[in-house]
Amino acid sequence: MRIAVVGGGPSGLYFAILMKRVDPSIEVVLLERNRADDTFGFGVVFSDATIAEVEGADAETYAAVTEHFVRWDDIDVHFAGEMIRTTGHGFAGMSRHTLLDVLQREAARLGVDLRFEAEVRDLAELRDHDLVVGADGVNSAVRTLLQDRFEPRFDWRPNRFVWLGTTRPLPAFTFHFRENEHGLWRVHAYQYEPGRSTFIVECTEDTWRAAGLENATEEQTVAYCEGLFANELDGHPLVANKSVWRSFPTIRCARWAVDNVVLIGDAAHTAHFSIGSGTRLGMLDAIALRDALVRVGAVGGDGALAADGTTGAEAVKAERVHCALRTYEQERRPAVESLQRAAQASLEWFEATERYMDLDPVQLVFTLLTRSLRITHEDLRVRDPDFLARVDRWVAERAEEQARVPVPRDPPPPPMFTPFRLRDLVIPNRIAVSPMCQYCAEDGTVGDWHVQHLGSRAVGGAGLVYAEMTDVSPEGRISHGCAGLYEPRHVDAWKRVVDFVHGHTPAKMAIQLGHAGRKGATRPLWEGDSEPLEEGEWPLISASPIPYFPDRSRAPREMTREDMDVAVADFVRATSYADAAGFDLLEIHMAHGYLLASFISPLTNERTDAYGGAIENRMRFPLEVFDACRAAWPEHKPMSVRVSAVDWAPGGMTPDDAVAVARLLAAHGCDAIDVSAGQTVPDQRPIYGRLFQTPFADRIRHEAGIATMAVGNVSSWMDANTIIAAGRADLCLLARAHLFDPYWTRHAAAMQGYPLPWPLQYRSVERYTPRFEFHFGGE
Ligand SMILES: Cc1cc2nc3c(=O)[nH]c(=O)nc-3n(C[C@H](O)[C@H](O)[C@H](O)COP(=O)(O)OP(=O)(O)OC[C@H]3O[C@@H](n4cnc5c(N)ncnc54)[C@H](O)[C@@H]3O)c2cc1C
Ligand SMILES: Cc1cc2nc3c(=O)[nH]c(=O)nc-3n(C[C@H](O)[C@H](O)[C@H](O)COP(=O)(O)O)c2cc1C
Repeated sequence: MRIAVVGGGPSGLYFAILMKRVDPSIEVVLLERNRADDTFGFGVVFSDATIAEVEGADAETYAAVTEHFVRWDDIDVHFAGEMIRTTGHGFAGMSRHTLLDVLQREAARLGVDLRFEAEVRDLAELRDHDLVVGADGVNSAVRTLLQDRFEPRFDWRPNRFVWLGTTRPLPAFTFHFRENEHGLWRVHAYQYEPGRSTFIVECTEDTWRAAGLENATEEQTVAYCEGLFANELDGHPLVANKSVWRSFPTIRCARWAVDNVVLIGDAAHTAHFSIGSGTRLGMLDAIALRDALVRVGAVGGDGALAADGTTGAEAVKAERVHCALRTYEQERRPAVESLQRAAQASLEWFEATERYMDLDPVQLVFTLLTRSLRITHEDLRVRDPDFLARVDRWVAERAEEQARVPVPRDPPPPPMFTPFRLRDLVIPNRIAVSPMCQYCAEDGTVGDWHVQHLGSRAVGGAGLVYAEMTDVSPEGRISHGCAGLYEPRHVDAWKRVVDFVHGHTPAKMAIQLGHAGRKGATRPLWEGDSEPLEEGEWPLISASPIPYFPDRSRAPREMTREDMDVAVADFVRATSYADAAGFDLLEIHMAHGYLLASFISPLTNERTDAYGGAIENRMRFPLEVFDACRAAWPEHKPMSVRVSAVDWAPGGMTPDDAVAVARLLAAHGCDAIDVSAGQTVPDQRPIYGRLFQTPFADRIRHEAGIATMAVGNVSSWMDANTIIAAGRADLCLLARAHLFDPYWTRHAAAMQGYPLPWPLQYRSVERYTPRFEFHFGGE
């Protein structure tokens, strides 16, 4: 078998070595455009987990590489004149130059045909090879030559960074955050061999331009950074090596294999340097590709293709290679995409670091360490229990201050079990049951189902229980089964639910008032999402006369001023009824494409009057409703608003718009924003994933300065603790997790050794040891 590897970076060299180890008779040629010792860059970092994988795949290379490792466990964060050290992180670093040198020597020893100063410009040169591996980095020529088929996508990130070195020894992975007259500078630095450290400087584009670095030479960059970081460098110089300012491209390819050509490493995908994983990803790709080739019998073992291809006909040989490449991509892609998601969260944190500069250093470090979602509050307990205890104490102190009720300190509760105050309402913990329509009310009247549904979740330990979207008029219902608050009998029915919760549990009760707008007169969810009724429908109103499903939904009427007056009066009546029923918190539903949301999103509001156009106009009617409800709702009781922070559709709401909406609501006396997303238009393209809407809650909380609630795929208590301690939101709302497990909060408490008191009727549980048999998976 003949293999051509294009690119002599870590991915290409390591793959060549692995193949030679499988079978020395395989011909491997490696073409590298640079000279053997031309390496740019400074150090690379590996985590303990990667090192273990390399050891498992190839013990000899592992031994040769690890001999040069500098290991460290600590991360030092320098911020606001303070340094906080956390430990237990398990990293190793080495010089990129040494790594390549070790790999080159190993490859040469094993008989890889290493050809330096050999630039590949045309794949026709390689047509005699059974397999061509594009390991030629970010600007891959192999990928470009076949770009119609690999279909690469480039997401150029806005921040600027430069890769420098220094002779300053560093005892830990080190972050600096330093502000000067030009803006905020972030440094990611680590030692990779005695007396040599990588020193990456990163900033926003505005800061970079303000500092006049657009056309800076290497010398000018070094001079500026040496001046800026004189204290941090402690008399040591910065060193340049092709140190130009760059922006980072996240690269994703629709496919990694085309015929007998395959991409590995940065050529196939990139992951931001802030999670230090490019070299690691490339080496793990090499292992996965080798494994796939061996497993399908393309190389190695009985029946495999010999060097001259004599064991099989050409067609069989080609088919085995194709099959191996498909296997490689299928097996490797999920792990790479997962890492790219983590890298995305991490790079976004560094793009928005300015947002966190007012945080207390303890919380800043916690947000920094948990930014990629890969490390949770619980992981930090294992890595650094002292730091975690400090975080929990800090959260408890802040909660006591904020809620004005005593919070234990010795030990402090897990962050999710700290109280939170909104006006006079003290919510006993940070877990809330998200509003969920049950579609089983009768003419708007809720019944036994609702008592057990909401009651059991309150008994289950949630601090706040939201009743479902409850409509302010019969025409405002989504379906015939929707709950209402437009007749006195609805008050009695709701009071029964609220009294049960208040009488038997410490939970607080919230109600979400809404009007379905153009999404009204539909069938219950289990008969299809927003599917129109076939009979018994009623006339619809909305900001503009646009049907939800263009092909089958009825068109709503564009609301007149008179319609608005009626709707405001309906909301006000429902607000008074909600107070009479005893609810503690009132939420106005301005999300998911319903009536008020239809004014806010430009996709559903095409009005040319005072209620359309700029965001201030689109918010005019929703704010009018909010103000009227606020005036009718007792001063001491809080109000929240649910918004769709993004529409997941071109031309729709963006996170910037959501911040503007939240600011307006805050200025009108809203106490908290319940941050959801989407459901505005049927052709939305949401990006789902764990905690997928939490970044919007984080952004609104910090930029609009208002309390937020995170919702959407929050399902583990590790994540809930992390969100609260990091200050990404003030409350966590769980919907489906609460359907699955009404006692979610109690179970979370028990698992954390912080059991909640049981109601007297269930006290026997205190002498019972639960043995759960199901296992929670997920990323
Ligand atoms: C600022 C910064 C910091 C980083 N920090 C880390 C870190 O701490 N840890 C880590 O693991 N990674 C880090 N990386 C990422 C790391 O450098 C790359 O992800 C890694 O080197 C990828 O390896 P590769 O072999 O796929 O590509 P490369 O290392 O880029 O190698 C590609 C090779 O192909 C050669 N080549 C290109 N085109 C051709 C052609 N047409 N013909 C022949 N040869 C060609 C190039 O000369 C190059 O030698 C960092 C990157 C940056 C920019
Ligand atoms: C059965 C069901 C009914 C829902 N009804 C409502 C509702 O009445 N009001 C609302 O704002 N969101 C409603 N949602 C959305 C949830 O409140 C929540 O935002 C969403 O399910 C994401 O959270 P999760 O990932 O924890 O399920 C509903 C969700 C479900 C599953």
